[in-house]
Amino acid sequence: MKKLFAFFAIAAFAGALTFTSCGGGGNDQQQTSDTVNVKKDTVAENPYKDLPADIQAMMPRGKELYDTKCFACHQKDGKGLPKTFPPLANSDYLLADKVRAVAQTLNGSHMDMVVNGEHYNQQMVPQVTTKEDAVAIINYVLNNFGNKGGVITLDEVKDVKIKPAGK
Ligand code: HEC
Repeated sequence: MKKLFAFFAIAAFAGALTFTSCGGGGNDQQQTSDTVNVKKDTVAENPYKDLPADIQAMMPRGKELYDTKCFACHQKDGKGLPKTFPPLANSDYLLADKVRAVAQTLNGSHMDMVVNGEHYNQQMVPQVTTKEDAVAIINYVLNNFGNKGGVITLDEVKDVKIKPAGK
């Protein structure tokens, strides 16, 4: 959808530059209906509409961080890689303790853990430096990848200690 839109946008732009009308009308029409569809989709689905407003407001940041920092190991779909990177999608371990998940995102983790019956024991280094970022990511994870894991607030992690970077 996005690619298609970009293509029509470029086509329309090129058409405007060269003043060629050949085929341009068709493209313009396509572009208009595509734009309308995109808008309708965005308004129709707010997957977070039942969550508190302050949590909803964190989601773009959470997604941005997940897509840049976490997906390489935990994968785009949050399912991880068997025996290497534990899943965040439908993870009994994650859902059992959200405060721990925030702490691990801040401070990393290297221990034997059992996630959905599978042992993992690889190192994850600290991923972010602020509680705001860690809470935003974990809220994003709790409400994506098929998870309906509820929410975690900054107040709930106020006792988590951020370890000094040990890199
Ligand atoms: C370089 C690979 C790597 C990256 C990047 C990474 N992780 Fe991990 N993650 C791991 C490994 C390995 C473990 C298991 C650690 C252990 O055994 O102690 C883990 C464990 C976890 C756990 C606990 C286990 C579970 O499945 O619930 C959470 C929560 C977690 N990671 C969240 C994140 C988040 C959020 C990010 C992005 C900000 C992230 N990780 C980025 C490799 C990674």
